[in-house]
Amino acid sequence: MDNHISDHTTIVSDAALKTAQSVDKDRQWSRLMQLAEIGAIPGGGVNRQSLSTEDRQARALLVRWALARGFEPSVDDFGNLYVRRSGRNPEAPPILTGSHLDSQPSGGRFDGAYGVMAALEVLEALSDSNVETEHPVELVVWTNEEGSRFAPGAMGSMVFTGKVSPQQWLDVTDDEGTTLSQALMETLDALPGLPRRPFGFPVHAYIEAHIEQGPILEAEHLSIGVVTSIQGVRWFTVTVIGETAHAGTTPLRLRKDALQDALAAIQALNTFMNDSTDVLRFTIGRLVLEPNSHNSVSALCRFTIDLRHPDPSVLRAKGDAIEGICIDAMRACTVQVTQNLELPCVAFPEAIVDAVQTSAQALVIGHRRMPSGAFHDASFLATHCPSGMIFVPCAKGLSHNVAESISPEDAAIGTQVLAATIVELSRAINLNPAVILDK
Ligand code: GLV
Ligand code: MN
Ligand code: MN
Repeated sequence: MDNHISDHTTIVSDAALKTAQSVDKDRQWSRLMQLAEIGAIPGGGVNRQSLSTEDRQARALLVRWALARGFEPSVDDFGNLYVRRSGRNPEAPPILTGSHLDSQPSGGRFDGAYGVMAALEVLEALSDSNVETEHPVELVVWTNEEGSRFAPGAMGSMVFTGKVSPQQWLDVTDDEGTTLSQALMETLDALPGLPRRPFGFPVHAYIEAHIEQGPILEAEHLSIGVVTSIQGVRWFTVTVIGETAHAGTTPLRLRKDALQDALAAIQALNTFMNDSTDVLRFTIGRLVLEPNSHNSVSALCRFTIDLRHPDPSVLRAKGDAIEGICIDAMRACTVQVTQNLELPCVAFPEAIVDAVQTSAQALVIGHRRMPSGAFHDASFLATHCPSGMIFVPCAKGLSHNVAESISPEDAAIGTQVLAATIVELSRAINLNPAVILDK
């Protein structure tokens, strides 16, 4: 990896350069590939949903790797998993780095897993280069980032940062009727004896490495995205309630057809969400019908809305209008709109963005500043401690897709920048917190 390291730079410490140089591309890649075997599905992707058997296997593998190197695993009551490498000052708040091990049902091998393996590789590189950091450095695996088995996503980081109490999620069920509380208990029981951590302990800084999940870095032949911000997100569930009836005998004018009224609402929403600047993101990703039968009128239509925008005032105005638009669109049915997730628009603090950029510069790596279109656990960590993110390119920008792909070289370069950033942040005394744009 020497070709990425400048011998002449003095903009980061020797310890940062030494640690970056100790990142082992092959060790990291081999671990990513071993992890990808857990929950592997046709097409080269993974299905490793939160708190599933596969998630438990992935956690167990990580803990084995950690213990083999003398690092200290621990867990909190929501299953967020930590792996600590101590620092010079054991009382100092740790630098946290990590991401998630759960995937979408037809997920790729790197969304989340990359950030966790990059974090482990940083711990290893610190030990290989005998670098002692002032602060402990801890890997973290956040529980249920994806939200595809138990909605919504980012639960682990929401609970850690005190945004919600864990009780709020315990009765959420998956499609089979398993409660989150049951799946969580099985997950915690599968790794007995780990020390328990409190939620919300003080954190010096949080840095998450992740694949870009978009096409920009690849198109610009750059290896690193220095992430400046994450757009805000609101999730809604819309339930249209009608009445089922015989498809052959019931005149259209007498029907309370939940699907037809839902389609009218969707059409009105599409018109309202139209954005000539193409910044707003509006997605209906899930639509459920009852009784879902060929020859019955729909009694119920439930659909989800994922709304995103970087400007909090636009996000607020557009999101707040959804209920009224749905109500106005009803012809024969009634409708309920509930919001089930809200992530703030976040601008990462300049001290962190700068530390990432300076590390990329010192390592002579092509990089650019960019916002994140996807949400991440960093959206919530940013409300708790100075936070930031590092992106690496993924092929054709594909993600949430079995064809998701990154190169071993870019994976290692991202980890070098992560390693150097962490060593530098460990030397920094005062880091400003993130700006939460809508607070
Ligand atoms: C995260 O998976 C997102 O939907 O942005
Ligand atoms: Mn992710
Ligand atoms: Mn994802």
